[in-house]
Amino acid sequence: MKVGEKHFRTIWLNADGRSVDIIDQRWLPHAFRIETVDTIDGIATAIRDMWVRGAPLIGVTAAYGVAMQMADDPSDAALEAVWHKLHETRPTAINLRWALDEMTRMLKPLAPSERAAAAYRRAAEIADEDVGLNRSIGENGLKIIRDIAARKKPGEPVNILTHCNAGWLATVDYGTATAPIYLAVEAGIPVHVYVDETRPRNQGAQLTAWEMAGHGVPHTLIVDNAGGHLMQHGDVDMVIVGTDRTTANGDVCNKIGTYLKALAAADNGVPFYVALPSPTIDWTVADGLKEIPIEERASDEVSLVWGKTGDGEIAQVRVSPDATPARNPAFDVTPARLVTGLITERGVAKASRAGLAELFPERRAAA
Ligand code: MRU
Repeated sequence: MKVGEKHFRTIWLNADGRSVDIIDQRWLPHAFRIETVDTIDGIATAIRDMWVRGAPLIGVTAAYGVAMQMADDPSDAALEAVWHKLHETRPTAINLRWALDEMTRMLKPLAPSERAAAAYRRAAEIADEDVGLNRSIGENGLKIIRDIAARKKPGEPVNILTHCNAGWLATVDYGTATAPIYLAVEAGIPVHVYVDETRPRNQGAQLTAWEMAGHGVPHTLIVDNAGGHLMQHGDVDMVIVGTDRTTANGDVCNKIGTYLKALAAADNGVPFYVALPSPTIDWTVADGLKEIPIEERASDEVSLVWGKTGDGEIAQVRVSPDATPARNPAFDVTPARLVTGLITERGVAKASRAGLAELFPERRAAA
């Protein structure tokens, strides 16, 4: 998507054919910084410390990490080691494991001398595929927005609430939850987005709001606790969120707080959609609550908040007493029964085993 007049993806291979550049998301919206990453340790740090984040982008970054490892040492032992090293960086987003498995599956049969070139080729393909998947999600989600718009008075915007950042910054381009929104804006359908701030790391306030502002999408920032109130008063027409892992039976794991939005949406008859590319489906898991590992991040993310001071310095401030402990589960699971539909690249599925199997019949046997 555009930053100023220039088009950016969130990650790209440099002319040296080895290193990647990434948008370092830790500094947004206050500073737009690009970092070059050229080591496997650098890739692990960028994922773990959230220079890059969002399930699809984590997967693509890991794929380039495998390629870097193959350029350094293409042995079987190195291939296995890089899988483990990157897999442990962030436990919840299944796209990470999907990309590592995909790279390993493709590289394993090759002679070591062929692996580096093949790995860079496949990493680039996975990045391009992500863009295509998101574009298709956008087209499928656009139909839903169009239907809601058709029931509104002419010129009245469709009010969409989103949580966290499932935007282009979370993917290679377009985003998942934001793809239908960007396409609606392109199609001239009036939309307005309520952006949940998304404590503790404020991906909504810092990233989604920046994306919306950068692309001229009318939007309003709200605190995480405001969504239920707005839904009770008819101010939200639909919710669209992303997901880090959706199970074979349609349970949706996403940023902490998503579940509360889904509960409020169900109580108020507001449709609750989840946008996802198929690599985000974990066909091996049935019960999301019991089987998905939930990342627990540092308590500092709760006690300290990043912002820009009046002097323009990007700094952290403490919001709680020094001695107060904090707990920081980063994701929660929304049971399938609270999800109106799963917007995938193949269409909109019911959040159920049968619904997903209908769209992905080739996985029925695998699941
Ligand atoms: O902790 P983050 O910022 O990586 O969490 C991101 C989310 O929860 C997104 O909603 C999810 O990864 C889907 S991104 C298309």
